[in-house]
Amino acid sequence: MNNPKTIVVVGASRGIGKAIVQQLASQEENTIIALARNTEALAKAFSAFSNVTTGKLDLAKGVNEQLEVLLEQVTTIDLLINNAGLLVNKSFPTLTHEDLTLSYQVNVISVMETVQAILPKMEKNGGHIVNISSMGGVQGTVKFPGLSAYSTSKAALCSFTELFAEEYKNSPIKMNCLALGAAQTEMLNEAFPGYQAPLSADEMAAFIVNFSLTGHQWFNGKILPVSLSTP
Ligand SMILES: NC(=O)c1ccc[n+]([C@@H]2O[C@H](COP(=O)([O-])OP(=O)(O)OC[C@H]3O[C@@H](n4cnc5c(N)ncnc54)[C@H](OP(=O)(O)O)[C@@H]3O)[C@@H](O)[C@H]2O)c1
Repeated sequence: MNNPKTIVVVGASRGIGKAIVQQLASQEENTIIALARNTEALAKAFSAFSNVTTGKLDLAKGVNEQLEVLLEQVTTIDLLINNAGLLVNKSFPTLTHEDLTLSYQVNVISVMETVQAILPKMEKNGGHIVNISSMGGVQGTVKFPGLSAYSTSKAALCSFTELFAEEYKNSPIKMNCLALGAAQTEMLNEAFPGYQAPLSADEMAAFIVNFSLTGHQWFNGKILPVSLSTP
């Protein structure tokens, strides 16, 4: 049996996040806290797993306050996966101030706030924080029209990973960022109807789970491309 781990997954109600929690939960020694806005979907997805608890978290506002309540009884967190994401697909001139602020709030600011909230629970034993970004947020990769709010916010998430790792380089807390290529999920279907991704949500989640549980032994402050599609 592996070491028992307490794991928080943000953005767990569908797509890759749901697959991540289901795969983590199949290792019975893990205790998982699965968070998102859609509590019905969370309850349905994880009803078969006694080692998963679910909670309602809206990353659009008041993240610290919500997490204080949600994680009140949790003393130690070993792994945090910041998987939630908001994809706004709109041509640049039509982007509203709200599109921009919400994209940055959900994709970057809420991640920073979530990390602030869990740090006291990770400081003693150390742990791994994994941020889920996108290939579009990596400098020099293929870009897509309509994604300037989304991909610039994902680029900021990559940058945050490097900055956090520098600030915490003498601590036992490691942070890495996975820049994903396409995986077949609701987000992809809504943004690019008809696009066929080379990986399912389950297949992408399998890599993320394995990396999240082990990758901090070799990586810190790294932005790793995980892509069969985008060069
Ligand atoms: N699929 C791809 O091809 C692809 C490619 C590159 C990167 N990614 C990244 O991979 C991650 C997962 O993507 P996915 O395709 O699985 O997306 P998805 O199907 O849209 O799922 C996104 C998850 O984020 C949660 N979420 C969104 N807004 C939220 C909010 N305001 N508060 C709390 N939770 C929120 C959603 O839950 P609720 O709606 O219930 O809140 C959902 O569980 C995202 O960060 C995405 O940017 C995906």
